[in-house]
Amino acid sequence: MNEREAEFPALLARLRPQCEALIAQYEHHRSALLPIVQLFQEHEGFVSPQAVRATAQMLDLTPAVVESTVSFYTLFYRKPVGKYVVQICRGLACSLNGAEDVMRIFRSKLGIASLQTTPDGLVSYEEVECLAACDRASCGQVNLEFVYGLDEGAIDEMLAAMRAGTYAVAPMAQTEIPGRSWSVAQNADVARGRKSSGAVGTRSPDNAGGVGDASGVIMLDRIAELGLAFHGATHERSVREAKEIVELAGDHLGTLGNDGRAGH
Ligand code: FES
Repeated sequence: MNEREAEFPALLARLRPQCEALIAQYEHHRSALLPIVQLFQEHEGFVSPQAVRATAQMLDLTPAVVESTVSFYTLFYRKPVGKYVVQICRGLACSLNGAEDVMRIFRSKLGIASLQTTPDGLVSYEEVECLAACDRASCGQVNLEFVYGLDEGAIDEMLAAMRAGTYAVAPMAQTEIPGRSWSVAQNADVARGRKSSGAVGTRSPDNAGGVGDASGVIMLDRIAELGLAFHGATHERSVREAKEIVELAGDHLGTLGNDGRAGH
């Protein structure tokens, strides 16, 4: 157990009142998931496995539900990162307006690739999808604060200020020395080609299922079939509403047989 892990129970005790206040703001407890995870990240510098488990326990969710939410957003880091996380947009508008040059300059000046951290643990660098600031392309974020006008001179100034500790954006908490990369390997089951429950039974290995095609019918069928079990175990909203989903998809379900399966 490292020092951060050893100190986690004390951190949790300190943050619990804030977490409870966040939970009380929402009609549904799980709506507090993102702000609670953000709170832990502010204090630990990343979303640790201990934070995932504590969040799940406070919200009466499974750790898998919390983990799947955390892994969806580039706002959250699942491993220790540098004190400054530089994220450069590689979306279409930014690419058309010089993002390739910006990314090349950052990679060369930092000596690292996307999803890597400098050896001194100061800067983590990532190339991300559209940051929804296309009107000011090309752009990026430092510790989630927007930065614009990133030519070579501005990048030099930014990195010098970070090294001197004078950069305008505050550094992140760093409770653990980051490794070279903070990328998280894809789940081995997924990498091997196993499908989500909604897509089981589809014929094409590339078809993940969807409402508008034959495999979508199978997906709805699976949701309805598994609905009661999920409802009791995980309080999942989508499955609780399976009946309404099935009704909405009436046209597609017209192709189902009496036993609810497609292809009859
Ligand atoms: S493409 Fe870069 S902000 Fe949208």
